[in-house]
Amino acid sequence: MHHFNYVDGQMQAEDVSIAEIAEAVQTPFYCYSSATLTRHYQVFSGAFDAMDSLVCYSVKANSNIAVLRMLANLGSGADIVSEGELRRAQKAGIPADRIVFSGVGKQESEMRAALSAGVLQFNVASEPELSLLNDVAVEMGLCAPVALRINPDVDAGTHEKISTGKSENKFGLPWTEARAIYGRAADMAGIQIVGVDVHIGSQLSDLTPLEIAFTRLGELVILLREDGHIIDRIDLGGGLGIPYHPDDPEPPRPDEYATMVQRTVGDLGCQIILEPGRLIAGNAGILVTRVIYVKEAGERIFVILDGAMNDLVRPSLYGAYHQIQPVKEPPTDADKVSIDFVGPVCESGDTFATQRLSTRVEAGDLVAIMSAGAYGAVMASSYNTRPLTPEVLVNEDKFAIIRRRPDYDEILAQEHIPNWVE
Ligand code: LLP
Repeated sequence: MHHFNYVDGQMQAEDVSIAEIAEAVQTPFYCYSSATLTRHYQVFSGAFDAMDSLVCYSVKANSNIAVLRMLANLGSGADIVSEGELRRAQKAGIPADRIVFSGVGKQESEMRAALSAGVLQFNVASEPELSLLNDVAVEMGLCAPVALRINPDVDAGTHEKISTGKSENKFGLPWTEARAIYGRAADMAGIQIVGVDVHIGSQLSDLTPLEIAFTRLGELVILLREDGHIIDRIDLGGGLGIPYHPDDPEPPRPDEYATMVQRTVGDLGCQIILEPGRLIAGNAGILVTRVIYVKEAGERIFVILDGAMNDLVRPSLYGAYHQIQPVKEPPTDADKVSIDFVGPVCESGDTFATQRLSTRVEAGDLVAIMSAGAYGAVMASSYNTRPLTPEVLVNEDKFAIIRRRPDYDEILAQEHIPNWVE
């Protein structure tokens, strides 16, 4: 579900014409819909209303502070993986006691920052991390609330680069060794065990692997309690998929997910933490880009856009499918041809779609790359010295630039030629 629709032959975000934003902001840019973000958050959190639950939006999916502030106003907490994300969450007004700190490579300075802030929980993914966190907390005279991230050795059935729950992945502690590690954690003066944590992957299209993982986690909670640990929280991570392709099967609905969560871990008397990212932001954003040239070469039609892999890397990195729609609505009976939509970066991998059946577009036309609200702007770079992509937030008939495009002077001012270089 989203709020990017054609009205009188022109794509709008809610009540604002995309072409009008393009005039004001220039292309490429990301455009987000407040109504879509709000609806996704409310549908997801509403599914868990009957349970003692806390939704900690996964900041990595879309970390713009305006997006975070909107979600904070709706009651969301945050799942963070760095001090940078901690600072964003704090700036957006998310209280520390609604922030969980995940990630496999927390550094000492980041632990210090999160302990000073008083975050709700550290999701710890290895014994060396546990031991460092203990040392830092003891030195600060504090006790770190910890859930150990368990690797349940379950195949999430998703893209290999975003699958995290198999024993060969770098994430989490083997579930077969968890009891022993909890035993050692309990003896550490700077560690307070509060719960268990799991996250098996992203863009999951089927609940079965999640159900297997949560069942294992539930069994573990019972064993840990038998061992004398106090387990009050179960963090289930994120991972629910969204539709990218029109023919994709409907991904699991939040209410089906909540029913499965209730069935697997709902009776353990724990608070349930959820870390959705893509589900909230994915279909709430598009990348708007303009056609620079149309190049016909032999059989192929290349549409060269002013957006590129540096703006949205998912197609190049994961072979991900994103729908591409002209901003001006094509006539319903318009012929479709096979088009390669590519960017201007000097790599063959700078391709958004290969041989995509699509209506013809011309130089100067705007096209929208759909479902780009999650893992879009956050993964953008300035490769080829292309300015970082700006972001725009729409709310009904208003829009605001929520990250502006840096100018070239700003970009070059960050660099310095040492005086010993001739
Ligand atoms: N919690 C943890 C510990 C995570 O590692 C992630 C995502 C999430 C929550 C949120 O998962 P979501 O609900 O968004 O699936 N760049 C990739 C996705 C990487 C996901 C990394 N972890 C992509 O563009 O598909």
